[in-house]
Amino acid sequence: MSTASSNGPAGGLRPHSDTAEGNALGTRKSEHLEICLDEQHYAVETHSTGLEAVSFLHQALPEAADEEISTATEFLGHSIRLPMFISSMTGGSEAGYRANKDLARAAQTTGIPVGMGSIRILFRRPEVLDHFALKKIAPDVPVFANLGGVQAREMNHREVFEMLRRLEVQGIAIHLNPGQELFQPDGDRDFRGVFAALVRFVEQCPVPVIVKETGFGIDPRLLRRLLNAGVAYVDLAGSGGTNWVQVEAYRSTAQERAAAEEFQHWGFRTGILLGALEPLPDTAGRVLASGGLRTGLDMAKAVALGAHAAGYALPFIRAVHAGGAEQAVELIGRYHKVLRTVMLLSGCRSIAELRNGRLQRTASFRQAVADLRTAVGFDSPISGV
Ligand SMILES: Cc1cc2nc3c(=O)[nH]c(=O)nc-3n(C[C@H](O)[C@H](O)[C@H](O)COP(=O)(O)O)c2cc1C
Repeated sequence: MSTASSNGPAGGLRPHSDTAEGNALGTRKSEHLEICLDEQHYAVETHSTGLEAVSFLHQALPEAADEEISTATEFLGHSIRLPMFISSMTGGSEAGYRANKDLARAAQTTGIPVGMGSIRILFRRPEVLDHFALKKIAPDVPVFANLGGVQAREMNHREVFEMLRRLEVQGIAIHLNPGQELFQPDGDRDFRGVFAALVRFVEQCPVPVIVKETGFGIDPRLLRRLLNAGVAYVDLAGSGGTNWVQVEAYRSTAQERAAAEEFQHWGFRTGILLGALEPLPDTAGRVLASGGLRTGLDMAKAVALGAHAAGYALPFIRAVHAGGAEQAVELIGRYHKVLRTVMLLSGCRSIAELRNGRLQRTASFRQAVADLRTAVGFDSPISGV
């Protein structure tokens, strides 16, 4: 795809059979990759996370030494070297396969968790199983599979669980992406019953379940409902980064693209969501932050605001595309350097101490957090929602 307008309404992608549908899924995934990678032709990132309005209080005389700093923590019951993970992205196309292998290598080298893209295609085209066999490449770190909430409603759960066993994953992320689906020519249009299906899925699933959005965020009330239902982690996946309405619209007509423009600022910003959850001790350790995180400083801020770990998607797909696993390892190395430095300069020796790190918040950040809490009816402590 060389220009944004080279694709029509994708009428040719309509499924005729399992194989045709599997091929359509593979084509869609490779188009997503092309759009996310071609910065010259496609603008897929919009507005900000709000984290720029938060800063650490610098300590000129920290009572700590560099050798004491530990960035290690735990994820899905496994120890990891940094409180970060590579978010769910690819598989199902040749380019996606290459990217997955590089992402898994980088995760294994640096000791961080790695997700994979939706495994839905595996049930249509089992021959692409290798694209998702990341555990072979990353045996020492948590690897998690991925599936849509609508698929969790429609698919046979036992078949999904069997696939999770074959993939030897440590968890599965279920994505909620109604905005993206509505702009996808063959996307889902009916989201009724997804929560109830999720509850059944979580009850039986042989591995912990993460529930995530894909860039518009999960509000505090829904987060609480999901945690009460037994979800291991909720990944906020808020706005400020990749906007999947824009990505899908680039695959569609000029009219759809014009409509998508109006959703540039849609969703809950990742930083503001974290701020809104901050005073709730009972969510500690079960909230992941992602969506628009682009730096090591973003990770440090997310953790100091209460996130258990910070997820990154777009920066890693671009890194492996530009320079393979090595470039992704370099990027993680940079984030690591920044995180350690922030920890020392704010007097925190461990991730536990960083969670209580001293932050300064601008008045507009505090106001945005208060507005969000009021808007979702979350301004007084709630339980059992
Ligand atoms: C190329 C690409 C493919 C993606 N595919 C999936 C997917 O299959 N399943 C999913 O849950 N999220 C998928 N995502 C969404 C990301 O996991 C993430 O939630 C979103 O892009 C926001 O994070 P970011 O701003 O760091 O990119 C994909 C993202 C990218 C960039």
